[in-house]
Amino acid sequence: RAVHLKDYAPYPYLLDDVSLQVRLDPKATRVVSQIRFSPNPDGPAAGTLRLDGEGLRLIRATIDGAPADVTVDDHGLTCPAPATAFDWECEVEIAPADNTALEGLYMSNGMYCTQCEAEGFRKITYYPDRPDVMAPFSVRIEADPATCPVLLSNGNPTVAGDGWAEWQDPWPKPAYLFALVAGDLVRHADSFRTLSGREVDLGIWVRPGDEGKCAYAMDALKRSMAWDEAEYGREYDLNTFNIVAVDDFNMGAMENKGLNIFNSKYVLASPETATDRDYEMIEGIIAHEYFHNWTGNRITCRDWFQLCLKEGLTVFRDQQFSGDQRSHAVKRIDDVLTLRARQFREDNGPLSHPVRPESYIEINNFYTATVYEKGAEVIGMLRRLVGEEGYRAALDLYFDRHDGQACTIEDWLRVFEDATGRDLTQFKRWYTQSGTPRLSVREDYTDNVYRLHFRQETPPTPGQPEKGPQVIPVALGLLAPDGSETMPTRVLEITETEQSFTFPGQETRPIPSLLRGFSAPVILTRQSTAEERAFLLAHDTDPFNKWEAGRTLAKDVLSRMVTDDAAPGPDYLSALRRVTQDDTLDPAFRALALALPSDDDMAQTLTDSGVTPDPLAIWTAREKLSLRIAEELSAVLGDLYDALERPGPYSPDPKAANARALRQTALGLLSRIDGGTRAQKQFAAADNMTDELGALACLIRADGGDEATATFYRRWADDRLVLDKWFALQVGYAAPADAADVAARLTQHPAFDWKNPNRFRSVIGGLGGNHAGFHAAGGAGYELVADWLIRLDPVNPQTAARMTTLFETWHRYDADRRDMMRAALERIRATRGLSRDSAEMVGRILGDA
Ligand code: ARG
Ligand code: ZN
Repeated sequence: RAVHLKDYAPYPYLLDDVSLQVRLDPKATRVVSQIRFSPNPDGPAAGTLRLDGEGLRLIRATIDGAPADVTVDDHGLTCPAPATAFDWECEVEIAPADNTALEGLYMSNGMYCTQCEAEGFRKITYYPDRPDVMAPFSVRIEADPATCPVLLSNGNPTVAGDGWAEWQDPWPKPAYLFALVAGDLVRHADSFRTLSGREVDLGIWVRPGDEGKCAYAMDALKRSMAWDEAEYGREYDLNTFNIVAVDDFNMGAMENKGLNIFNSKYVLASPETATDRDYEMIEGIIAHEYFHNWTGNRITCRDWFQLCLKEGLTVFRDQQFSGDQRSHAVKRIDDVLTLRARQFREDNGPLSHPVRPESYIEINNFYTATVYEKGAEVIGMLRRLVGEEGYRAALDLYFDRHDGQACTIEDWLRVFEDATGRDLTQFKRWYTQSGTPRLSVREDYTDNVYRLHFRQETPPTPGQPEKGPQVIPVALGLLAPDGSETMPTRVLEITETEQSFTFPGQETRPIPSLLRGFSAPVILTRQSTAEERAFLLAHDTDPFNKWEAGRTLAKDVLSRMVTDDAAPGPDYLSALRRVTQDDTLDPAFRALALALPSDDDMAQTLTDSGVTPDPLAIWTAREKLSLRIAEELSAVLGDLYDALERPGPYSPDPKAANARALRQTALGLLSRIDGGTRAQKQFAAADNMTDELGALACLIRADGGDEATATFYRRWADDRLVLDKWFALQVGYAAPADAADVAARLTQHPAFDWKNPNRFRSVIGGLGGNHAGFHAAGGAGYELVADWLIRLDPVNPQTAARMTTLFETWHRYDADRRDMMRAALERIRATRGLSRDSAEMVGRILGDA
């Protein structure tokens, strides 16, 4: 049942034109499709028509007006067809109200919407549902005007009347970019004038009542459009650009041509209901989906193995954008935190796979941190290797050469080779070889010559026992003991398993600042002292490495607290004090420096150094260290907390948000020693969700926060997105021994709508994210998560399958936990009728062939 990259063959036909007529009805929607097929000169011989289709009731099908001789199976239909051009017409019936999988055409709060990527269009009509089949679409939608006054699809609106509307998308597109929305929606309108003077109507469509929460997303959209013009020379190409917010959505958002559909949590924001983090995510995701218009839509993927072609590049672009809008240093640290937490975790376990996988059973299972985040890192490395100008030249060539095509990673690498003259044969391993390279470095210093000796190794991963050396760009700077920089950043290019670099003329032994900006997604190890790390934390001119030095120090301290019950040393605490007090540093940077590594990160770090992680011991050490920091820095933190209070109304701008980030970090620490007085006061006085939720978190952690939790619920019972936070916070901050109980209790709460993916993720995902709680002795956490995944799977396989990754780290733990986690996985696997999605995931996690 697996699909393999090596089996790719073009489709035998080209689609000259697609016309759809959709008559909406909750239980009996009729879809009529008219498609003009002609033989594909570059494809295999035409003569048989194969169309994908799932869960469709076929009403009729004709070829050139005569009944087609179709054979229907579970995955589509086959029929004899002319080897010359012909007209296909067919009508099917579907029931969007029964579609709980949220893939294809479904209903959310009375509104119709679609999600077609990757293979949802085949649930709407029979079609060659593959990204290399592209066609211009025209769509006619009909619906009851009383319930669905607004009818939207891709492209430009053409004509409309009462109960119907027509849309035309002139740009040929694959079916996964098709979208349709119908419902009672209100439009937050604006417009944008492109570089060449095209006026584009912009609309953000939301349910009545939410129209006051669209301004920030609209602002982010306009900034994204201007940025893509300025930085990549990319203009928008239609007269209309619409975004719709939907409450029931499996992922973040979707870049359908001219009609992006978003999980409402990444659109709706007001100071009272959204946190600074929400605003930041909205900005990043609005940009991401908009940027797909060129990297994904105008140039798409030949097949789903090439997913990283659009996703890695678009993530890279949205990261650049967010860095430009806010702070590059803080953005880079955030991105690396995410990369390590999600992608390194994935790459270190049974789900490890290359950025470009070679086979899959269910493609939805490959929308992973490796494809997205490591895919973006690979592009960052390319850019570093060819330089800013080389990158720009390669991208210009890419857009020029491949506009309107469905492409591969080979096409992508070739534009870099052609534009820069560089041979990327070895570099391509980043796309084909899975696993996180380990890079170790030794050094020596004699006669004013400083040398660095690198050694790289990528451990075996499923299906890939042998690895070749990777091209690793290592950005390096050298510092003198007085803190001055004796060699500014340069990039060493490692290509061999072992490789040395020589730096003559060093009067004193330099202190190296290695892998600046995290220039490659590798695990770097180097013997170093706490003093040296404290030195780098104080003096490194590269902000990422300055932070990294503090992070490494914190990990060493925590590791020794776990393994030897050691007390935190003075180097760490005094370095932390210096950073905290340094007003020349961005408050957001200081907040990051004060934050400790997560429990999951510590569990992986201990595993890497050969120690079996004890979740409770890690949690306890982290609590102790937080308390110690709070005591040590109480005066500084108290001053900061007071000084960072900003009078006046809330504004989501980066400067204000950064100040709040540090203030909240201070509050988190202070709450451990002030009896919760500050948090209580802040909770009572808060006029924005950032402060309110931040205070609530502190109160829950201190003593369960029952009263504040109840108050918060009463205040926000009618706001879905805020209630998601309420659910997540209680589970996320529950003490290890209580977490599973808290989660179980919350699943009984009347507002626990488990069919809503956001709500499900808040509670069940929240438990999985509470490391010590999920892994608490006895296995109640594992049991509860398994119970709920089994329940969700038949209703929404995609979301259930994705969440099986909560178990992907089972191999790290002690025999008891391993056995319990495996038993939970076996129980999921043994479920009758388990979806293909979950079956593939659980099989891979358990290590089946
Ligand atoms: N292309 C979308 C994005 O990155 C995500 C689609 C995810 N689809 C899926 N089947 N998981 O913005
Ligand atoms: Zn994307």
